[in-house]
Amino acid sequence: MYYESELPSALKFDPFKAIVAPRPIGWIGTLNADGVPNLGPYSFFNAISTRPNLVAFSSEGYKHSTANAQNWREFTFSLVTHTLRHQMNATSAHLEDGANEFEVAGLEMGQSRIVKAPFVKASPAAFECKVVDSFELKGVDGESAGSFLTIGQVVAVHIDDAYIVDGRFDAERAQSIARCGYRNYATASTLWELERPDGPVVPV
Ligand SMILES: Cc1cc2nc3c(=O)[nH]c(=O)nc-3n(C[C@H](O)[C@H](O)[C@H](O)COP(=O)(O)O)c2cc1C
Repeated sequence: MYYESELPSALKFDPFKAIVAPRPIGWIGTLNADGVPNLGPYSFFNAISTRPNLVAFSSEGYKHSTANAQNWREFTFSLVTHTLRHQMNATSAHLEDGANEFEVAGLEMGQSRIVKAPFVKASPAAFECKVVDSFELKGVDGESAGSFLTIGQVVAVHIDDAYIVDGRFDAERAQSIARCGYRNYATASTLWELERPDGPVVPV
């Protein structure tokens, strides 16, 4: 199969998101203009740099998380686990501005120390982030994609000590989940190691 812009009739849906998978889910915590907490999952999310540690999420349309992150120049990231999957899904509902998705999903808020936005207290790991940049994406034709990329620098890290094993964060124990295509998800349950041909013994 080969195609450019038109999907072949054999494909019921665009497989783009099933191919770029599994994708980590950024559970993004922000405050609205009135200071009301907001929480939503974003699988157009990833780590994009170290030193400094940077993460980015993209909102398809100008969603609350983007508006709030631009306004306060900050957001939080909470790691989504298999245990938290239903609460994560509940926070993806399209609610009006000012609806507190932490409360809607029955999630206790963790108190950030550097930024004002809360994180998911039950999550094994969370970041406090300051916005470095946030802008609208374009296609090669220069036309607006209608999506907005927000880049944040990790300025504080919260980890539940129960998930630190031999000095490493244990994603297998955390059962971190990731988004695949369609309605599929994957769980980090089978981790395996591969040494780099010329890399250091301890991964960095
Ligand atoms: C697992 C999952 C991943 C999602 N990823 C994205 C995404 O990357 N970008 C996006 O615009 N919406 C995504 N959504 C939908 C948003 O979560 C949804 O539109 C939500 O209402 C946005 O909340 P907000 O307006 O409070 O930011 C995702 C939903 C789910 C369940």
